[in-house]
Amino acid sequence: MKQGGSDAAKQAAGESAAETVEDGMVVGLGTGSTAAHAIRAIGRAVDAGLDVVGVPTSFQSRQLARDCGIPLADLDDVSVDLAIDGADEVADGNLIKGGGAAHAREKVVDASADRFLVVADPTKEAERLSVPVPVEVLPMARSTVATAVADLDGDPTLRCAERKDGPVVTDNGNLVLDCDFGPIDDPAALASDLAALPGVVEHGLFVDVADEIHVGTTDGVTVRALSK
Ligand code: 5RP
Repeated sequence: MKQGGSDAAKQAAGESAAETVEDGMVVGLGTGSTAAHAIRAIGRAVDAGLDVVGVPTSFQSRQLARDCGIPLADLDDVSVDLAIDGADEVADGNLIKGGGAAHAREKVVDASADRFLVVADPTKEAERLSVPVPVEVLPMARSTVATAVADLDGDPTLRCAERKDGPVVTDNGNLVLDCDFGPIDDPAALASDLAALPGVVEHGLFVDVADEIHVGTTDGVTVRALSK
């Protein structure tokens, strides 16, 4: 995953997106270091009197939102007006997400939102999607999905934990295969191929889901509409 962007750029992007949050909104709270800046900014606005409800996309974003004093709700009880989330790569309006292994819940929340804003630093922008696609799988389907991904000309690697022996286990109790397809010519076709594999819970290709991108730099923020 691309980790090259500066924290100042991520902060600029996150805070720019947070400024679009309005009183009374239900806000999807993304996962990762850039989305965390948005959550902190929303928390400061809540402290100052903004009335919003957050829907977290992971254990991490839930914990941060609680620490920041943002009231939370479940998708069972609310519908999301605006989601703010990061990305590992952005090209042609499509995204690869899942660097934090949270893409299953992120996709549910982001896709349900009336508007989905991506927050990113310039290192995330690319001509073509090409970083490995995270694929969350049922643990018992790890080998069958890996074989099927190889049949799709992908190279799957089980994601391993850094401070634990063995694999990363998602918030949903599943495993992640990082699947390297090289540059992806047709993200929509690959997305439907991956979604059709038995045992795949969710993949990290977000095709035609995002509405707008806020790209932060140390000099300011560029906001662009993304085609859907
Ligand atoms: C988590 C994600 C993150 O949004 C993505 O990895 C970007 O993270 P960061 O803002 O830390 O670079 O998809 O599953």
